[in-house]
Amino acid sequence: MFATWARKKENCEPIGDALKSYQSVFKVKGGIVLKYKINWGVIGSGGIAQRRTIPEGIMPAKHAALVAVYDTDVEINNSVAKKFNAKAVFSIQELIDSDIDAIYVASPVGLHLDHAIACAKGKKHVFCEKPLGISVEEAERMIQICNHEGVLLGTAFMMRFLAQHQAGLNIINAGKLGKPVYCRAQLSCWYPPMPGAWRQYPGKGGGGALVDMGSHCIDLLEMFFGEVAKVSCFINNNVHDYQSEDSAIVSLVFKNGAMGTVDSYFCIPDNSSKNILELYGSKGSIIAKGTIGQGTSGEMIAYLEDDNSGYNAQQARNASEGLILNPLPVNTYLAEIEEFSSAILENREPENNFARGLHSQKVLAACYQSARTKKVVEII
Ligand SMILES: NC(=O)c1ccc[n+]([C@@H]2O[C@H](COP(=O)([O-])OP(=O)(O)OC[C@H]3O[C@@H](n4cnc5c(N)ncnc54)[C@H](O)[C@@H]3O)[C@@H](O)[C@H]2O)c1
Repeated sequence: MFATWARKKENCEPIGDALKSYQSVFKVKGGIVLKYKINWGVIGSGGIAQRRTIPEGIMPAKHAALVAVYDTDVEINNSVAKKFNAKAVFSIQELIDSDIDAIYVASPVGLHLDHAIACAKGKKHVFCEKPLGISVEEAERMIQICNHEGVLLGTAFMMRFLAQHQAGLNIINAGKLGKPVYCRAQLSCWYPPMPGAWRQYPGKGGGGALVDMGSHCIDLLEMFFGEVAKVSCFINNNVHDYQSEDSAIVSLVFKNGAMGTVDSYFCIPDNSSKNILELYGSKGSIIAKGTIGQGTSGEMIAYLEDDNSGYNAQQARNASEGLILNPLPVNTYLAEIEEFSSAILENREPENNFARGLHSQKVLAACYQSARTKKVVEII
């Protein structure tokens, strides 16, 4: 996709001999280092953008600079612009006409398609919040247009970058967990009926707890155990009577034969949901609390057997024998912005690319189909 997008000469800026560590990435010619920062614009500055992605991601990123923000709520947009020293603009066209390379789309999900198309047609790379629109078809359309316009499209599955998740992945990839057997991911919160809350209407949010939070859980479990082959799902409105589901549970069967469950609820108090992550293999387990979410770390312990442990009739369980996984925390919003910015600068696909976003939509669609038909649904 990216090959069609050529970095324009005028996008390059001289920065003297600074940033020597990036010289392998960027051409240095006659003491001039080519562009090393991506200029960012934001659509939907007033939500997660101002809470997390701008202050923790774009502002401190080495490869990013915030230039302009847009939100239909002018008051909020002005205050975000002022707080982060950016230009407040009053239309998407004005945003596109600003000196920016990439746009972070953080508007309500039902607007992602229109916003991504507008960005792509304005020749701006698109970093879209999850999910990529409200359906598989919308995700495919987004991909088609971004491809046609020669811009990158990324999906903001930032939880993959958490240092503890990466540490767990390293253990799995090194074979220390043995053959993947079972996993569970949980992400829930309290989301009461509120006027105008777009998540409470499937046409505006694509669904409820499953799309909003379960999508992160499924994506993470696929990072650990590989792609899901089939799902079985129940959704319900157990507490809140809005249109989107407030309860979702998914059973997953992975292509490698492992199984998993994801549980996501809009009707469990925030402090009661500990966002548990459990990964079990034939040689051990990794158990985490609070790593799934918006923070930089939680608690994670690996319980690993040595290679020749046999059958133990005592079924001994010793809680103190775990290996605490506590790497240097990584801010996931910073990591996702650095990664996408670097992908632009390095002429490559981002790690969280369009394919991940599309695949996520396919799994979510299969879950809703299963809930509707009460059947197991294969991911095609
Ligand atoms: N990765 C994460 O940690 C995380 C967390 C929360 C939300 N999200 C995702 O971010 C996206 C936004 O969610 P949110 O919680 O920030 O929603 P929100 O409703 O809190 O914020 C959305 C913002 O978009 C603005 N907006 C509405 N219509 C607009 C339009 N036509 N043009 C421009 N701006 C418009 C609203 O005024 C609001 O400020 C969703 O895709 C959601 O799934 C991700």
